[in-house]
Amino acid sequence: MSFPNEFIWGTASAAYQIEGGVSEGERGPSVWDTFSHIPGKIFENQNGDIACDAYHRYKEDIRLMAELGIHNYRFSISWARVIPDGFHVNPKGLEYYDRLVDCCLNYGITPWVTLYHWDLPQEVENQGGWTNRKTAKAFCWYAETVVRHFYERVRHWYTLNEPQCFIDLGYRTGTHAPGRRENRGQVFRAMHNALLAHGLAAKAMRSIDPGLMIGVATTGRLCYPASLKPSDREAAKAATFFLADENWCFTHHWFLDPLFFGHYPECGGTFLEPLAKSVPEADWADIQEKPDFIGMNIYHGMEAEATPEGAPSIKQKYTGYPCTATKWPVTPQVMYWGTKWIHERYGAPIIISENGQSGNDRIYLDGKVHDPDRIDFLKRYLRELERAIRDGVDIRGYFHWSFTDNFEWALGYGERFGLIYIDYPTQKRIPKDSAAWYAAMIKCNNLLF
Ligand code: NOJ
Repeated sequence: MSFPNEFIWGTASAAYQIEGGVSEGERGPSVWDTFSHIPGKIFENQNGDIACDAYHRYKEDIRLMAELGIHNYRFSISWARVIPDGFHVNPKGLEYYDRLVDCCLNYGITPWVTLYHWDLPQEVENQGGWTNRKTAKAFCWYAETVVRHFYERVRHWYTLNEPQCFIDLGYRTGTHAPGRRENRGQVFRAMHNALLAHGLAAKAMRSIDPGLMIGVATTGRLCYPASLKPSDREAAKAATFFLADENWCFTHHWFLDPLFFGHYPECGGTFLEPLAKSVPEADWADIQEKPDFIGMNIYHGMEAEATPEGAPSIKQKYTGYPCTATKWPVTPQVMYWGTKWIHERYGAPIIISENGQSGNDRIYLDGKVHDPDRIDFLKRYLRELERAIRDGVDIRGYFHWSFTDNFEWALGYGERFGLIYIDYPTQKRIPKDSAAWYAAMIKCNNLLF
């Protein structure tokens, strides 16, 4: 039950979910500022105006992280803070991240920086957002600016976080910012532009410093087999890489195949085929830019089996299946099988860039926050992760989502994913029981402490 010696343990967050300070340091508005202020879009009409006030309290947070022995922190830079109008650099925005990065480095914490965690500058959206090809170029320029600025201080980067979500929820279902409901063609183009954004940016970043570690964090459907029968195994793999329904873009491989292989996944005979064929051939040279690691955001998976005819089929969940406060099913097997499928297909090192659960956490009468359900969740998921590593899946690290409770997008502050409880009225930070558990586990690098 022990992890490799050099295994990377960390925690994660994202700018709009924790920073607040939306009008400070000459920051510009992002699509999430606009969207969250439209009545009815977010749980109880909440927004990220203050969030966890990390803009002012980052020192306290980083100190706490260091005290817990967590030496890797994945956070995102807000594009709208650094380039408020999408086109001019704001030195004050960079200064905030200077302070944050230097604070991490002073405490011996390695920054893993995500360049885009969904907060597109509103000005860029006004010009079409992700449905406009020019957004890929604008992103590339932003990435170059930031990477050059943090030369030698930040060496681990994620280009985009979950393109599947910010395109599907932002441009198809409209439940996330910018709240658009576009047709298939536009959604397809938006996803294509996100691919271009990754490729152009990763190339530009490598030309600044070829030694950088550049990854991308993806998510999507992952299936595990209902039994160990070879037919169920194959069914789970096939269901993981199935494309032909409206959830085509909510798959890891729609994004990763182009980066690794320079073309879209096989989609002959589906509605995706003509769209895939409409792509300018020259784009592939820009897009095919292999990441140094694949960041996988994994929360839950689906059980799959083979029908008597051998076709893959998703099993219905049994009555009373275990679930988290968000009502997401607890399915630790996804850590083993999901990483295995991705490893088999791409062979690249994997970092679990997010995993965790929301809980009905609250301050108990003894003044502490007890979250045995999160500890149980972590034990189960990490056991499966360790089993995958033992079976040869190249997994290099794990980042718990999240360090502190934060703004869970359309679900507002109603969901708490943190190891650290935030008492929002006072902004007091209270480490939950799970924080102590995670710290102890990291210290022994072992689940049997
Ligand atoms: C995915 C996203 O990257 C993150 O922002 C979000 O809070 C978590 N998953 C939990 O839903």
